[in-house]
Amino acid sequence: MTRAVRIDQPGGPEQLKIVDVEVGQPGPGEIRIRHHAVGLNYIDVYQRTGLYPFPMPLQLGMEGSGVVESVGEGVTHLRAGDRAAYAANPPGSYSEVRVMPARNVCKLPDDISFETGAAMMLKGLTAQYLLKKTRPVEGLQPGDFVLFHAAAGGVGLIACQWAKALGLQLIGTAGSDAKCALAKANGAAHVINYSTEDFAARVKEITGGQGVKVVYDSVGKDTWDKSLDCLRPFGLMASFGNASGPVPPFAPGMLGAKGSLYVTRQTLFTHIATRESNQAMADDLFEVVRSGQVKIHIEQRYRLEDVQQAHRDLEARKTTGCTILTL
Ligand SMILES: NC(=O)c1ccc[n+]([C@@H]2O[C@H](COP(=O)([O-])OP(=O)(O)OC[C@H]3O[C@@H](n4cnc5c(N)ncnc54)[C@H](OP(=O)(O)O)[C@@H]3O)[C@@H](O)[C@H]2O)c1
Repeated sequence: MTRAVRIDQPGGPEQLKIVDVEVGQPGPGEIRIRHHAVGLNYIDVYQRTGLYPFPMPLQLGMEGSGVVESVGEGVTHLRAGDRAAYAANPPGSYSEVRVMPARNVCKLPDDISFETGAAMMLKGLTAQYLLKKTRPVEGLQPGDFVLFHAAAGGVGLIACQWAKALGLQLIGTAGSDAKCALAKANGAAHVINYSTEDFAARVKEITGGQGVKVVYDSVGKDTWDKSLDCLRPFGLMASFGNASGPVPPFAPGMLGAKGSLYVTRQTLFTHIATRESNQAMADDLFEVVRSGQVKIHIEQRYRLEDVQQAHRDLEARKTTGCTILTL
């Protein structure tokens, strides 16, 4: 038996319950892992509220690190005793021990701690595919401007540092002056407090009226319209989340009127659909973290049994950087 966090129906943080569940042996293509730490992500909120529907009951959590206890038939890249970390579907990382598909589980380098591993896989792999694989038709060159919303959050702080390492001028938005200062200290070239400032007007000012080549938007409903006004012709609107609510339907004709814009809605799980692509992205992430160019800031730690409070704080925009659940 193991302790895990489960919901029996979608709803608020009060639905998160600690339960004892049975853990069996790994089947073909699976591993059994004993977690040392678990990552908290905004996607966990969407799954808890039912915005992203799942069959119930649901054991939440898509990110974690720990030690492999046993491997099932056909698993060749991991062995019992390996240190490992992952971002993976299906959910279930809010637990001490679990059996899961091996495909998305990567060996964790010895010089990266379990806590860092648990904090960085889902958010770091997301920053990786956004900055390196989600690019405008005209490409991105050092010196180019990009706009990144929620820049002081989990994905955001990693993106600020990585964009700087790539030579990009990242304009970061955040909901308070303190969060803006944090994004700036982590490599954002410019910051905008979108709670008090008109971010589209400020982006025009910063870019000398030109606009940015890409907007990376995980806020969704509240930022969508103005974000389109921040793009230069042929610019790319890269939507990848809905912290303020889903983007409403729109008429494609307006993309022409605003400068022949491109729109994409990306999800990490397409990028890590194969073991090879997952490992290549993870290697890139490990390298940038080990080089010191990207530091993983774990700003909040909660015990697994305090998971309700962790969700409340995340939704109330009280957190910055990464958050982990400890066991
Ligand atoms: N598609 C993908 O592949 C993928 C993968 C990972 C993450 N994501 C998305 O990326 C975003 C960041 O994820 P994360 O886990 O690192 O979370 P996070 O950025 O640490 O937290 C979300 C942040 O969104 C901002 N926000 C703006 N309006 C909000 C509202 N109405 N309610 C709550 N927050 C609001 C807040 O920052 P301010 O106070 O500064 O506004 C908040 O701190 C999420 O939307 C997540 O779903 C997508």
